[in-house]
Amino acid sequence: MSSLQGRVVVVLGGGSGIGLEVARRATAAGALVRLGGRTGDKLRAAAAELGPTVTWQAVDTTDQESLAEFFGALDRVDHLFTPAASYTVGPMRNLTDAEAESPFVTKFWGQYHAVKHAAPKLSDDASVVLMSGVASVRPPAAAPAYVACNAAIEGLGRGLAVELAPVRVNVVSPGTIDGNLWAGRPAAAREASFAQYRADTLLHRVGRESEVADAVLYLFTSTYTTGSTLYPDGGYSFR
Ligand SMILES: NC(=O)c1ccc[n+]([C@@H]2O[C@H](COP(=O)([O-])OP(=O)(O)OC[C@H]3O[C@@H](n4cnc5c(N)ncnc54)[C@H](OP(=O)(O)O)[C@@H]3O)[C@@H](O)[C@H]2O)c1
Repeated sequence: MSSLQGRVVVVLGGGSGIGLEVARRATAAGALVRLGGRTGDKLRAAAAELGPTVTWQAVDTTDQESLAEFFGALDRVDHLFTPAASYTVGPMRNLTDAEAESPFVTKFWGQYHAVKHAAPKLSDDASVVLMSGVASVRPPAAAPAYVACNAAIEGLGRGLAVELAPVRVNVVSPGTIDGNLWAGRPAAAREASFAQYRADTLLHRVGRESEVADAVLYLFTSTYTTGSTLYPDGGYSFR
């Protein structure tokens, strides 16, 4: 395993949730962390909590000019994690076209363009971790565009691993995680989804943001791992 001491770690979507948890762990391991996200106040508060080795800059991953400014301000990137996304999930029959396309717009193309703008700044031994979701291989409910988007992200990780080598590119694909994202959804829907997940997964519980962060730190530092997708999902994907 390589060390994160003194390494530049960029987390897009680092102001909350899984991204913030990764920033916490990377900071504790001695990294110099740069947070990105759309809301300056959230990033400022996160950086204040984490300490002087953490800086931030507002960025919208759906806007390539914004991404160019964000990465233009950095000398180098040693590790990049890109969980930034905001989208609507649901059945084809219920969603507008704009809602159905939103996972691809923010989660797929947002990550693709983030890596494109980061690429000139990636060091030779850098690594990239893309964010997917286990719905890619086991859809919990009708949400075909969201399912397809996550499957596409896992393919994108393999494709980028080929193009960017020796830079390593991997994907983390979590199960249902009790954290910031679900806290913002209606309580009844959250409890119903959590109950179904507990019944359907081998470990009979939902996951924690810290457990996904552990997987991301492993992918950052595991020097012979590239093109892989890791599923911190309690065994949901194959049961
Ligand atoms: N939690 C789960 O159960 C779960 C399971 C599987 C996969 N995931 C994936 O994990 C990712 C992150 O989820 P999370 O649980 O950590 O929730 P979260 O707290 O909502 O994290 C998303 C972060 O991304 C930022 N963001 C959203 N759109 C952005 C954009 N266009 N440009 C820049 N930043 C943007 C948000 O901040 P601003 O709004 O301030 O920009 C927020 O800080 C999502 O892609 C989700 O699909 C989550």
